[in-house]
This record gives sequence, structure tokens and C-alpha cells, in this order.
Amino acid sequence: MVVTKYILPVLAAASTAFAASDACDGSSKPIQIQNQGDAGALSSCSTVQGDIEIAEHTTGGINLAGVQKITGSLIANGAANVSSLSADDLESIGDTFKLEGLITLTSLNFGSLTSVGSIDWAALPNLQALSFAKGVSKADKLSITNTGLTNLNGITLDNVGDFDVTANTAMDTINVNDLKNVTGLLNIAANAPTLKVTLPNLGGAQNITIRNVSSVSIPSLKELSGQLGLFGNTFKEFSAANLTSTGDLAFDNNGKLANLSMPQLTKVNGGFTISKNDDLEDITGFQKLQTVTGALDFTGEFNKVDLPALKQVKGGFNMQSTGNFSCADFNDIKSTVRGKFTCKAATAHPTTTDGSSGTSSGTSSGSSSSSSAKSAASLIDVNVPAVAITAVFGAMLQALL
Ligand SMILES: *[C@@H]1O[C@H](CO)[C@@H](O)[C@H](O)[C@H]1NC(C)=O
Ligand SMILES: *[C@@H]1O[C@H](CO)[C@@H](O)[C@H](O)[C@H]1NC(C)=O
Ligand SMILES: *[C@@H]1O[C@H](CO)[C@@H](O)[C@H](O)[C@H]1NC(C)=O
Ligand SMILES: *[C@@H]1O[C@H](CO)[C@@H](O)[C@H](O)[C@H]1NC(C)=O
Ligand SMILES: *[C@@H]1O[C@H](CO)[C@@H](O)[C@H](O)[C@H]1NC(C)=O
Ligand SMILES: *[C@@H]1O[C@H](CO)[C@@H](O)[C@H](O)[C@H]1NC(C)=O
Ligand SMILES: *[C@@H]1O[C@H](CO)[C@@H](O)[C@H](O)[C@H]1NC(C)=O
Repeated sequence: MVVTKYILPVLAAASTAFAASDACDGSSKPIQIQNQGDAGALSSCSTVQGDIEIAEHTTGGINLAGVQKITGSLIANGAANVSSLSADDLESIGDTFKLEGLITLTSLNFGSLTSVGSIDWAALPNLQALSFAKGVSKADKLSITNTGLTNLNGITLDNVGDFDVTANTAMDTINVNDLKNVTGLLNIAANAPTLKVTLPNLGGAQNITIRNVSSVSIPSLKELSGQLGLFGNTFKEFSAANLTSTGDLAFDNNGKLANLSMPQLTKVNGGFTISKNDDLEDITGFQKLQTVTGALDFTGEFNKVDLPALKQVKGGFNMQSTGNFSCADFNDIKSTVRGKFTCKAATAHPTTTDGSSGTSSGTSSGSSSSSSAKSAASLIDVNVPAVAITAVFGAMLQALL
């Protein structure tokens, strides 16, 4: 019969497949790599089921040639003497690509890699560049912290959940051209002070927090379901030309910011805070803003506030400046405000809703605005962000510090 004729060869084939897949199977226990010999033994495994772990005491270069797919994770934790890691045939890692504490790693060669469950890299101080010829276009999460990378060339994601890039002190460029949507938290902080962030096609995001950068370009951003926060940046200008709505919106301690504009913004679904942006003289870049569902809290040294479309502020209203803006312009909004209404122009010590100074020159000791008083105060003020900011962003600060 036709069936029996095929049974024997099928069984034979199955048993050799079993023998091969044993060596290629890290699903019940991760495959351990201690040296290049162990890595070479995987060269006939086009697919590795489960996880591969590079042992801590491994030394020198490791090359996983031949492996095309890892269904689980690729992990190297504390392998301080691994100098290079290569896998030129590897196209996908199903779960986590985790590298931590590879302090002498200088090269990462993954020429075919396009898809990773999540990227989780930390403490790779000597890794300056990625050799990812094809580019990783798919990852659910990315976290890169404390590496020597100067840019993210090789990361070509078009979609991601959390995107966390922090404490990479040489990173001066983040340009992810294809990125269109971030469905989790995009957090950038404490990288090189010269960092320029360019996300030309980012259309939607949940939460965005950016600290310590010298420029941000997000011209396509249309909608944020969560908050947008910009803290401690050095840019003179910030605009989100296409942004129509966002959750909480906060600008704090951007000392050189002089031009802030969101010409299409109509709604802030949360609180709107502007504080300690000492160079911001005019708040005129929100010509279409109609509604703030939380509190509005603007403090600083501005001379002009123009919010011609504003109809409703559902939380409290606090606006205080050393400058002589016109409080009379907000008489009509008063009746919509459910919380406390405070407006003070030409006041010596602008104070935020929670009582902290709204300018970096504001100190309890008096009205001095000499540059030395200014810098001393700004050092102190770093620890006392506005309450709203603490509540919303406190967890992120914790994670960062
Ligand atoms: C790395 O190499 C140095 C020098 O040979 C050795 O002292 C150290 O224990 C090694 N580190 C690890 C994690 O194996
Ligand atoms: C981004 O992704 C979320 C969740 O998948 C989706 O609801 C939203 O429409 C997307 N936004 C854009 C601009 O693609
Ligand atoms: C901004 O939005 C308009 C209208 O939706 C669109 O035509 C334009 O391409 C967008 N600009 C960018 C840079 O995405
Ligand atoms: C995003 O921001 C909202 C507040 O606007 C907060 O409740 C939420 O936890 C944040 N999500 C993430 C992933 O940080
Ligand atoms: C980075 O930004 C934070 C604000 O979130 C600020 O407190 C800190 O001083 C900044 N760091 C540097 C080096 O500018
Ligand atoms: C402020 O920035 C906006 C958007 O980039 C620009 O159109 C405007 O001319 C700038 N204003 C000044 C005074 O530089
Ligand atoms: C503040 O502006 C008002 C009119 O806008 C003007 O009458 C007043 O003199 C100004 N005060 C100062 C101190 O410049």
C-alpha cells in the first residue's frame, strides 16, 4: 500500500531530525555558549528553539554563523570579556535580545537581523556602532541605556511599544526615519547634551518624555493619547506643527526656549504646564487651543500670552510672570475654571500652583537676578519640580536616576 511504503523513510527522517533538533533545542533549558566551539556547534541549526545564553566567563569573539532564527531569547549577562558578537545569518529573535554588562564589547554584527521581540541593552560602554546591514524593522520594545553608541543607525523600526534611550553619553543623533507609531512610552534622557532627535514620520504616540536634548523634530506628530513632556532641554525653538491633541502637556526648565509653537493644537486632555523657561517671552504659539481639561499653570518671565481660541479650562488656572502680560485677557475664561483662578502680571516671584518657583532665578532670598544667583537657584530647583509634574513623571524620573 502507498501508506506503508512511506512510513519507514518518514520515521528515519524523523529520528535524524530529532537528533539534530536536540542540539538546536534550548526550549526546556537555554543552550549555553562558553566559547566559539559551542557557537560553531550550532551552525547547522537554521532554527534554534528556545533560548541561547552566552556564559559570563566567555572570552573574545563569538560568531553564531548558520543560525537563522532563535524562537526564544539571545542573552549575554555580565560577559565582560566578550569583545564581539556576530550572527550574520540570523534573521529573527522571537523574544528578548538582552545584552548587559558586556563592558569590552566593541562590535555587534547582525547583518540579516530584521525582527526582535524586544531589545534590552544596558552597560555596553565600548559599543560605539551597530553593524546591522538590513536594519531591525520590527521590535515590540526597545531599551538602550548606558552604551557607547553615537547613533541608532541599524534601528529602522516603523512601530514600537516602549522606546527608551537613556544615559548613552556619546549619543548625539537619534534619527528613526521609518518610525510612525509609538504605542507605549517614548523616553529620551541624559544622553549627549548635543543630542538631536529627528522622527520625521512619527504620526501617533502614547506618551513622550524628552530631556536634555539640543533639538527635537516631530513635524508629523498628530495625536498623543498620553502626555508630552519636555524637560531640561537646550533648544531655542520647539514646534509640533501638526499636533492637534495631547494628554498632559508640560514644558519645564528649558532655559533657552524662546519660540514655542503648536499651531494646530486644539485640545489638551489633561494639565498644561509651562515653568522655568526663562527665555520664553511670548506664549503666542497656541492660536487654536480651545480646551484644557485639567489645570493650566503658566509661570515665567513672559510679557505676552495670546490664547485667542481658548474657551474652557476645566481645572485650576494659575498664570504668573515677572513680565507685564495682560490678565484682563482671561476675564472671560474665569467662569469656566472649576479650580482656583490666579493671575499675576509683573510679579517678582512667579509661583506655580504647588508653590514652587516658576522661574529658575526665583529664590526665597530676594529679587536678585544676577547670573550667579540664577545658576545656584537652578541647581536647587532641579529637585522641586511642580507637583503635577512630580505626579505624572515621578515614576520615570525614578527609573532614570
Ligand atoms: C575577564 O578577564 C579578566 C582578565 O583575564 C579576568 O580577571 C576576569 O575575571 C574576566 N571576567 C569575567 C567575567 O570572566
Ligand atoms: C498607533 O497605534 C495605535 C494602537 O495600535 C492606534 O490606535 C493608532 O491609530 C495608531 N496611530 C497611527 C497614527 O498610526
Ligand atoms: C500635516 O498635516 C497635513 C494635513 O493632515 C498633511 O497634509 C501634512 O502632510 C502633514 N505634515 C507632515 C509633515 O506630516
Ligand atoms: C502615560 O501617561 C499617562 C498620563 O497621561 C499615565 O497614566 C500612563 O501611566 C503613562 N504611560 C506610560 C507607559 O508611561
Ligand atoms: C536633564 O534634564 C533634567 C530635567 O528633567 C534636569 O534636571 C537636569 O539638570 C538635566 N541634566 C543636564 C546635564 O542638563
Ligand atoms: C517660531 O517658530 C515657528 C515654527 O517653527 C515659526 O513659524 C516662527 O516664525 C518662529 N517665530 C520666531 C519669532 O522666530
Ligand atoms: C503694563 O501694561 C499696561 C497695559 O497693558 C500698562 O498700562 C502698564 O503701564 C504696564 N506696566 C508696566 C509696569 O509696564
